[in-house]
Amino acid sequence: MAQPIDLADPDRALIAGNWKMNLLQAEAVALATAVAAWSAPVAAAGVDLLLCPPAPFLAGAIGAVAGGAVAVGGQDCHAKASGAHTGDVAAPMLASLGCRAVIVGHSERRRDHRETDPLVRAKVEAAIAAGLVAVLCVGETLEERDAGQTAQVVTRQLRAALVEAATDANLVVAYEPIWAIGTGRTPAPGDVVAAHAALRSILAARAPTSRARILYGGSVTAQNARALLALPEVAGALVGGASLKGAEFRAIAEAAAALRRQPA
Ligand code: PGA
Repeated sequence: MAQPIDLADPDRALIAGNWKMNLLQAEAVALATAVAAWSAPVAAAGVDLLLCPPAPFLAGAIGAVAGGAVAVGGQDCHAKASGAHTGDVAAPMLASLGCRAVIVGHSERRRDHRETDPLVRAKVEAAIAAGLVAVLCVGETLEERDAGQTAQVVTRQLRAALVEAATDANLVVAYEPIWAIGTGRTPAPGDVVAAHAALRSILAARAPTSRARILYGGSVTAQNARALLALPEVAGALVGGASLKGAEFRAIAEAAAALRRQPA
């Protein structure tokens, strides 16, 4: 039986599936079951797998991946540990269920729920306090990119969320250009490298030996995964649409595993 994944080793790659507000219970369980079935060799190659289903399906997904080398995480958490916040999910609830991680500050939440940098910071704090890995999303709009502000925007977002308790083991950064999410467009490799380098410099200024993982997210597919994951700065991927298709998510994860076995 494969070892359960705790996501704490920054030297492992991470391929995360963000299912967003998709699927129904039986489909979610079937997809999680399918991922668990092929997870062992991917994990053995040094690639952590994380599935982030909608909150109602977390327990089902956790049950479905039992025995596989797959971690499960939430898509959001509240900044408080408990209280009168109807409809919200607290980080300790996720941890108590067996979740290992939670996505924080996704651009869709910044947009749909007007999440601000200070709120995202509070959520990172809550996630880490609950023992979860915070997958912090940062990224620029098309207007910001066209104005040459990418590095400025993403470093502002990261600086704002870098809480005292953050370490290489409990913080993962995902660079997700907003204009690349769900659009089929991806940045040129040089632009990914530049954004990652800007983020890396913020992490290094805080802790010179930081090896915290910085992922790429935004229209990652089976076709472009290898080229993106082969960039040495890219420690993995946060995959949306393609993570809903079992075979495609598998191809992305296996591309990451192949690169670990045989660097590009
Ligand atoms: P996408 O979404 O892969 O569908 O572009 C990525 C994300 O929003 O995390």
